[in-house]
Amino acid sequence: MRRMRIAVAGATGSIGSLTVTALERAGHDVVRISRSLGVDLRTGDGLDAALTGVEAVIDATSHEAADRDETVAFFGTTTRNLLTAEEQAGVCHHVLLSIVGVDRATTLSRTGDGPGPGRSTTQDHTNGKPPHERI
Ligand SMILES: NC(=O)c1ccc[n+]([C@@H]2O[C@H](COP(=O)([O-])OP(=O)(O)OC[C@H]3O[C@@H](n4cnc5c(N)ncnc54)[C@H](OP(=O)(O)O)[C@@H]3O)[C@@H](O)[C@H]2O)c1
Repeated sequence: MRRMRIAVAGATGSIGSLTVTALERAGHDVVRISRSLGVDLRTGDGLDAALTGVEAVIDATSHEAADRDETVAFFGTTTRNLLTAEEQAGVCHHVLLSIVGVDRATTLSRTGDGPGPGRSTTQDHTNGKPPHERI
């Protein structure tokens, strides 16, 4: 297996920290991204420097929002900033960790029939495999 330089966004979180551990155990060079580590995906502060030499990014960030609009604003801004910085840095692979049923979220939260904001379905199952092992 080729050693890669991989950035984990949300590296201090429940899933992100498991991902970092698994990647390092597999011999990869891991760059940790989170506000507490000096990189803010919402403002972009520290992001360009963090992605220097990075070949792949795993996005495992999360945000507790009051409502749907705040959720959309947070993930819209952070994902846009991350993808723009990745393009400039020449990052080839982007993996986004979301949640089961996200493909149905817009429809379901509009109709009120399913797991819209505030009704998570698989959160807290942190003893599953980290995201890079599920790909
Ligand atoms: N936990 C589960 O059981 C589970 C199950 C299925 C899916 N998921 C999905 O996995 C993803 C991660 O969930 P989680 O439970 O691991 O989240 P979490 O424990 O709340 O961690 C969130 C991470 O995001 C970082 N973060 C938040 N805002 C940021 C910002 N502006 N810039 C940079 N980093 C930021 C946090 O660090 P700082 O606070 O230092 O910035 C932290 O490292 C989510 O998409 C969630 O839906 C989780």
